[in-house]
Amino acid sequence: MDKLYIISNWKSNKTLNDAKTWLEEIGKLSPNDSKEIIVCPPFTLLDCAKTNLPEHIKLAAQDVSPFSEGAYTGEVSAKQIKEFADYVLIGHSERRENFNETDEMLQKKVQEALKNSLTPIFLVQGKENKIPNGVDIIAYEPLFAIGSGNPETPSNADEVASFYKETSNIKYVLYGGSVNSENVSSFTKTDHIDGVLVGSASLDASEFIGIVENA
Ligand code: PGA
Repeated sequence: MDKLYIISNWKSNKTLNDAKTWLEEIGKLSPNDSKEIIVCPPFTLLDCAKTNLPEHIKLAAQDVSPFSEGAYTGEVSAKQIKEFADYVLIGHSERRENFNETDEMLQKKVQEALKNSLTPIFLVQGKENKIPNGVDIIAYEPLFAIGSGNPETPSNADEVASFYKETSNIKYVLYGGSVNSENVSSFTKTDHIDGVLVGSASLDASEFIGIVENA
């Protein structure tokens, strides 16, 4: 493992004022070559996050359009995202479920991201999910663990990470689902997990700082 990814996914949370306070706190974290910190604000706050965070803290969009620029009302293209972010989440279970995202659509999103030099972080819910070509980083997030306070066991998560590394070209496997500052190290100290993707617990700046420190 050459570095740990520690990702905060805000989902549809925070307005401008909430965001500024959070960003100011997180912006105080010093650079650390062994930890890549990535923040995923909603589209409306990407600009504010870019302005208020130091360069060593990276940004990701939470989604990307499967289409290039053009007449696609409501969509945000990879080219537009690239002005603010280096990464993009693709295939979160909340999007697969609530917005009927299909494997075919997810593949197009990955292609759009790669075409525009955005690194896709592709989310899988288990070993059955197909991973589009060109993906290097995935996050394993079992449905039962998301937002439930009931995380996967580190040994099961490690086993899934090891499976993906052995059976595909995936370089980094992250774990997500009810991670917090207390349990983060049980995942990051395993042999095959390269970081964590955190939702609820990361909304609080001091808790997210604890997660980064304990990872
Ligand atoms: P959670 O969400 O940390 O609130 O469980 C994780 C995610 O959905 O990425």
